[in-house]
Parts: sequence; C-alpha cells; structure tokens
Amino acid sequence: MNTEIANFNYYNPTKIIFGKNRIEELATLVPKDKKVLLLYGGGSVVRFGTLDKVKAALAGYQIGEFGGIEANPTYETLMKAIELVKRDGYDYLLAVGGGSVIDGTKFIAAGALFDRDPIHIFGAGIGDKLPITKALPFGSILTLPATGSEMNSGGVVTFVEKKAKLGFGSPVTFPQFSILDPELTYTLPKRQLANGVIDSFVHIMEQYMTYPVNAMVQDRFAEGLLQTLIEIGPKVIDETNHDYNLRANFMWTATNALNGILSPGVPQDWASHSLGHEITALYHIDHARTLAIVLPSLLEIRKTEKLDKLVQYAERVWLITDGTAEEKATLAINKTREFFESLGAPTHFSDYDLDAEVVDILVDQLDKHGLSKLSERQDQTLEISRKIYQNAL
Ligand code: NZQ
Ligand code: ZN
Repeated sequence: MNTEIANFNYYNPTKIIFGKNRIEELATLVPKDKKVLLLYGGGSVVRFGTLDKVKAALAGYQIGEFGGIEANPTYETLMKAIELVKRDGYDYLLAVGGGSVIDGTKFIAAGALFDRDPIHIFGAGIGDKLPITKALPFGSILTLPATGSEMNSGGVVTFVEKKAKLGFGSPVTFPQFSILDPELTYTLPKRQLANGVIDSFVHIMEQYMTYPVNAMVQDRFAEGLLQTLIEIGPKVIDETNHDYNLRANFMWTATNALNGILSPGVPQDWASHSLGHEITALYHIDHARTLAIVLPSLLEIRKTEKLDKLVQYAERVWLITDGTAEEKATLAINKTREFFESLGAPTHFSDYDLDAEVVDILVDQLDKHGLSKLSERQDQTLEISRKIYQNAL
C-alpha cells in the first residue's frame, strides 16, 4: 500500500459569485450574443420568484425555458431538453436549482454536442462510456447546498426502466460560473436542509476516510469542514432560522466538500455513494438519506481496514481522547450515526419500511453495474457490500 501523496493535477475553472443579490449581475457573466436556455426543476424557482429575478437580470437576451427536471433527473426528461436545444439552436445553458438541475444541465450541455447517441456517455452495461470532449457553455444559480455540483464537473443521471443511477464527468463539464446566494436557501424545507448537511458530510468522508498518506492540508481541510457541519448542522435544519451567516457558512461548506480541494493526491472511497445510488434507483429514497443508511454501517464493517484514519477522525473531529484505538473508532462511528439521526435522517432500512429482502436485490444491482471492487483498495467485494447492507437492516 502506497502511503505517499500521489502526483496530482489540480484544476477548477468555475468562477464563484457569492453573496446577496448577485443574480442582478448575470448580464456581466453571460455573453450578450448567446441564446440562453433556462433550466429548472419542479417549480420551486417559479413559486419563490427566483426565475423572475433571473429573467429580469437577462432583459434584452434571447431566452427560453425548460422546466420539469426531476429530483434525481431522468435520462428521458434530459433527452427532451437536448432535442429542444438542438431544434432551437440554444448555445448557452443556465441551471437554476439544486444538484439535480445542475447535473441535468451538465448532461444536456454534453449530450447536445455528443457525436454519437448520448447514451454512450454512460457505462455499466447501458452505454459504451465514451469520453465527453465538448459541451455547451453553462452557468448555474444554486438553490440547494448539498451536492457540490455547482463547482465540479460530475453529474448523476437516473434510468427509470433500467433502475440505475449512473455518473459521468469531464473537464469540459464544469460550470463557467455559479451564483451562490445564501438567501436563496431560506425557502428550503427541513428535509432538504438535513439532506444537504448529510450529503456534504459524506462527500468529505468519501475523500478522507481511507488510510493516512500524511496529506496534512487535505486532512485538515476535511476535518475543518466536518467540524463546521457538526457545529452548524443542528441550526441549519431549523427552517425558520434565517441567520445569514449560518446559511452562508453552510453553502460554502457544501461547495468545498466536493469541488476538488479535498481530493488531490489522496486515496478516496466512493463506496457509500455506489451503494446508496442503488437504493435510490430501486426504492426512491432521497440521495442523502441513502448515505445516512450506508455510511455508518460501512464504517462498522470496514473498521479494521480504516482503523488508522478512524482514530484520527475520532481524535481530531470528535475530540475523543480516551480509550484504545478500537474504542475511539467505535465511539466516532456511533457519534456519526447519532449526528445523522439527530438531523432527522434515520440510519436503518427498517426505518424506511424496507426489510431483509432488499439485500440480495441491491447486491444483484451492484453486480450488474460492475461495482464488485469498491473502496480505496478496490477490495470491497460484493460479499462485503452484502454485509454492509445487511448490517444496516
Ligand atoms: O424541483 P424543485 O421544485 O426545484 O424542488 C427541489 C426538489 O424537490 C427542492 N428545492 C431546491 N431548491 C429549493 C427547493 N425547495 C425550496 N427552496 C429551494 N431553494 O429540493 C428538492 C431536491 O432538489 P435536488 O436538486 O434533487 O436535490 P440535491 O441538490 O440534493 O441533488 C440531488 C441529486 O444530485 C446528485 C444526486 O445523486 C441526486 O441525483 N448528486 C450529484 C453530485 C455531483 N454532481 O457532484 C454528487 C452527489 O453525491 C449526488 O450524487
Ligand atoms: Zn452525494
């Protein structure tokens, strides 16, 4: 096992426009000669007036709209948007929404210029996983801090009939800019606020909870972000608490949790996300809630492999000083579980009315999607994934 920091390239071209009323500056961000398609979800941006603000800021531009991108955006819906883009010649996309809308927009941007059928952007037995080499330019206006999609180049698309959630990404699918106005989070309900805290927390853990390579900067950044979420999480989920700095800190934490700053040169383990995506695809449980089910169970099953980093996490994040290494690790895992539960996200399948039947079904899906060698050492076999699902019943 290599315990040195690996060589890395670090690249992030997304310009962040952070703070109050920054939508007003849109005309300085979107080139004047572009035909702009505004993309949004199920209507929250219409109800809360954000779309009107965007249109007012883009007065004089040629603009069109495509609404109805679902939470966990589906391939079918996004293909309709691609048809519209091609038919009407849009050459700039603007996502207004949460991770689902931004991810969807990334796929539309790439799919509209893809030389073959965009199905081949994906792998896992569904397409040929061909590289994305070009995409339409796009920006985003974030309304839900959670995924980091506003400052990264990845996305996740749902295939309804095939019951799969598959990722894609490319250096050409970073947003050109993202507007992060913490006041846009004031309309979020408690469930989405809690989802945002948990998703961000697990993004940090996926890039941190592996084995130590003495990457001091990456580790301290991760620990600082985790401690921030532990500190502000209980206040953030109070939907009536519109303290600006609280929401500003939440928003910036969520962005930094998955914008590439934590991962250069360090091992990563995206197994909780892989196991979680299968749960959402089959049982429609919110993305973050699937992570609340999987991560504590995974840490329990993988305690030996991750012991050194679990002890570091226990000592530095949860400030646990007493006990053996094993005891510290166990206590830190328990605290992680309690944290998720305290935010209103149950951590067992039974809390979502799912029972032991799901285990075989989920493991079959992992197998079908080629996910039989997960984790930082690619040693998480299907049998280990089965234990993790079973342990979460
Ligand atoms: O659809 P509308 O009506 O807009 O309502 C949305 C949706 O129902 C609502 N909402 C968003 N902003 C709001 C608001 N309601 C009131 N006020 C606001 N300001 O919230 C609901 C959930 O929105 P969604 O965009 O689905 O949530 P989230 O941001 O959590 O995104 C989840 C998707 O992102 C993917 C997930 O797999 C999932 O498909 N992920 C993307 C990642 C990435 N690109 O890097 C990484 C993540 O791990 C994740 O996998
Ligand atoms: Zn996530």
